[in-house]
Amino acid sequence: MSRRRIKATLAVGFATALLSSPISAAPQDPLAPTGRWSAYTAGRAETPPMGWSTWNAFATDIDEEKIIGSAQRIVDTGLAAKGYRYINIDDGWALKRRMPDGRMIVRTDKFPSADVKGDDAPNFRPFTDRLHAMGLKAGIYSDLGRNTCSEAWSLTDTDLPKGNVLEREVGLHGRIDQDIALYFAKWGFDFIKVDGCGLRDYGTDSARVRSGKFRALGPILDSGAVTRTDIPAVQALFRQINVALARENPDGDYLLSLCVWGAANVRAWGKDYGGISRTSDDISPAWGRLLVNYDTTVTRSLYAHPGSWNDPDMLHIGAGDFDADHLTEARSHFALWAMLNAPLMIGTDLRKTPKALLDIFGNADIIAIDQDPAGNQATLAYDSSDLQILVKTLASGDKALAIFNRGSGDYDVDLNASHLKFDDSAPIELVDLWTRQKTSFAKTTRLHVKPRETLIFRARGTRLLQGGYYLSEQPGTVNPAVDGVVKPTADPTIFRTAAGWAGTNGAGDRPSYAGWGGARADSAPYGQILHVAGKPFAAGIGILANSRMEVRNRGATRFTSMVGVDDSATDKRGSVTFLVYGDGKLLATSSPLKWGTPAQRLSASVTGTKVIELVVRGASADNQQMPVTWGEAALLER
Ligand code: GLA
Repeated sequence: MSRRRIKATLAVGFATALLSSPISAAPQDPLAPTGRWSAYTAGRAETPPMGWSTWNAFATDIDEEKIIGSAQRIVDTGLAAKGYRYINIDDGWALKRRMPDGRMIVRTDKFPSADVKGDDAPNFRPFTDRLHAMGLKAGIYSDLGRNTCSEAWSLTDTDLPKGNVLEREVGLHGRIDQDIALYFAKWGFDFIKVDGCGLRDYGTDSARVRSGKFRALGPILDSGAVTRTDIPAVQALFRQINVALARENPDGDYLLSLCVWGAANVRAWGKDYGGISRTSDDISPAWGRLLVNYDTTVTRSLYAHPGSWNDPDMLHIGAGDFDADHLTEARSHFALWAMLNAPLMIGTDLRKTPKALLDIFGNADIIAIDQDPAGNQATLAYDSSDLQILVKTLASGDKALAIFNRGSGDYDVDLNASHLKFDDSAPIELVDLWTRQKTSFAKTTRLHVKPRETLIFRARGTRLLQGGYYLSEQPGTVNPAVDGVVKPTADPTIFRTAAGWAGTNGAGDRPSYAGWGGARADSAPYGQILHVAGKPFAAGIGILANSRMEVRNRGATRFTSMVGVDDSATDKRGSVTFLVYGDGKLLATSSPLKWGTPAQRLSASVTGTKVIELVVRGASADNQQMPVTWGEAALLER
């Protein structure tokens, strides 16, 4: 389905949509220690969800046969046994909202098993029962607004809800409690994806509202500008959905998928509201689009944790640039999504998928990288526009390593022990996760990587930091509860493809994903190498002042770091103070530090402490958004 997303009508003069930072919704002093881990852990997303969804394969042209057919293939091919479990119906299942009671009605022409008799008809329960009997889980789709994305963008109305204006309002808005009770308690779904078009595409001025076919709502959300988005209003809706989900699922077996496509500054707060959260607009089967989606996630390793993951969108392996004639690209897609701890949601018609692609989905070694229980999203160990090296620390202490060639030229890559934060005097073993070939090297090795190829390995060596870990190696345990970004700004580092929804119409794909200046592992917030008073730090956390990070401590006895104002700060006069708390109690504090003051060492005993909090306070309001460095921040086990 081709959809044009850019709407100048929404862009101008929407006076009531105010920009409010997440901080304004927080308690009075957001930097005060809380002694707890606040990122989302409700529902079932200890590891990123895996499964299959209708959207990329079928758009709204869905039916029971297609879905059960792919579900059966998931079981028969052994993919279910490898973890692919969620079978998700995306947009297109709803016929209408029955009036006056507002009950949602399924398209029984497409889902005949829902065509039961009695008061509860039609009913999705026989369908979810069938999936459950296959050992699978069932997912459904809705929208934050009154209407869905296909109602806004579909070129035909064949698969769209039918009836009058109110009957075609199939989204959650104003119906959260009723619909969540129906979908989860009555119908037995386990997963819900909540889209955002209903908040974006039905403004008073939109052609579809003016046509009289839809009631106006907002716009509350604008993909093109965070400044035209009412962030607290979007958050409030997700909060209500969460209350309903917890109430209707006493066993806790549910998963909330946030789908506001990186808009509304969600890349900063999605981790507090759902099990997975989309960081970008839709993927399409085009290389440039993969780069966009990947870029919106790759710098956000500190914003993903067990319980809430960044979602660069479903896999598009099986189509276009990722079909069986493009195995290099298809393998890159899979390897990168695994490194990013992305949900692994297959989006192709598995009834027709060739073996070469099934083998990609079924690569158990790469699945294990995605599903590693430590939940550390990879961080960038080397970064350029053409070539990147990504590393993630696994629960075993091994590292997963990916070398990603984004461009069209061949590269010889020097891989050094330091990229892996391994000691360079000890041997390093590499296992290639596509070929299972083992090699080893000391200090440095040279690897060849072809255009669009991603080499992926499991690496074993000796930790550079004896007896502990740098926090930047364990982003899954670090939550930037307050990241200091008070003016959400579009991130200019995200790839902007010409193959966007509007083609080359309009002014081009301008930077639109807020999150610039967010907390980074092994990088200053605006992308520089961490430096304090001229001294570089290869390891550390870069964040803005007036920030608070929560760190889960699993048995470490000491926290240490070299702290200071980062050299990338432009405010050379303001001063900041670094504070370390353990379970809410102050453990260590720095003196007031200014730009150019050498890094100060902080050290604190954290024995028995569960949550460590790392706070940086600015002395005055005018040193907001000042980059600061927790250099070599580490938890030591002895
Ligand atoms: C939006 C979402 C997609 C899909 C469609 C359905 O574009 O981002 O993933 O759910 O809506 O219409």
